[in-house]
Amino acid sequence: MQIPQEWTFANEDVAKGFDHHVREQLPWYDLLTSAVAYIGRHYIPQNGLVYDIGASTGNIGRALQTTLDSRNAELIAIEESAEMAALYDGPGSLAITDALSFPYQPFDVAICFLIFMFFPPNMRETFLDRLKENLRPGGVIIVVDKCEAVQGYPATILSRIALSHKIAAGVKPEEIIEKELSLSGVQRPLDPSILGDEAVPFFRFGEFAGWILDYNNLHRL
Ligand SMILES: C[S@@+](CC[C@H](N)C(=O)[O-])C[C@H]1O[C@@H](n2cnc3c(N)ncnc32)[C@H](O)[C@@H]1O
Repeated sequence: MQIPQEWTFANEDVAKGFDHHVREQLPWYDLLTSAVAYIGRHYIPQNGLVYDIGASTGNIGRALQTTLDSRNAELIAIEESAEMAALYDGPGSLAITDALSFPYQPFDVAICFLIFMFFPPNMRETFLDRLKENLRPGGVIIVVDKCEAVQGYPATILSRIALSHKIAAGVKPEEIIEKELSLSGVQRPLDPSILGDEAVPFFRFGEFAGWILDYNNLHRL
């Protein structure tokens, strides 16, 4: 059996193609980016601190720019791939390092936009606990990720939704298959149960979903 090359963001061609690639592969990318920025706007206080975790080329930071400016808030983008980081074009400062071992300061908003699926599964809960420890009262963690499949026939349907939209976007079938196989063991969907009862869903399309983790809200329930 021929095993395709493993997917990595530490690659100049992947980095250069990223902005085009995500929009081609994920038809909801811009819509969801603006929804995430809008949710963030509800939690960013004056002089607040925001983390964009797995920032890639700065998509989330750019969407937050107006709110950051008007509230005099600081953004720290974290991105471990030097190739992606070289193309960072967003506000704030950029830390080129592993988000899993980053020394987080108390913050108001952390955005995990399509990043959990690239963390080793056995480190995800510890990572989330570290974020929670540093979350200031009134703050939020926003998560968007690929989810572990639901059971039965609906699971097949959810994965076909994504597939059919990639084809509709003009991605070549062989590219879809090559990318899919290159992700084996590199991209592993998130088990949403690790997010806890605090997780309020705000988005679902095929296998991708988004949650607002607002602990203040839970305390009121
Ligand atoms: C799918 S992209 C994220 C998309 C991005 N948030 C956006 O808005 O377009 C995943 C990014 O996370 C980065 N990444 C993966 N594991 C990481 C880690 N442990 N620490 C920091 N960055 C990481 C990858 O290099 C890649 O740029």
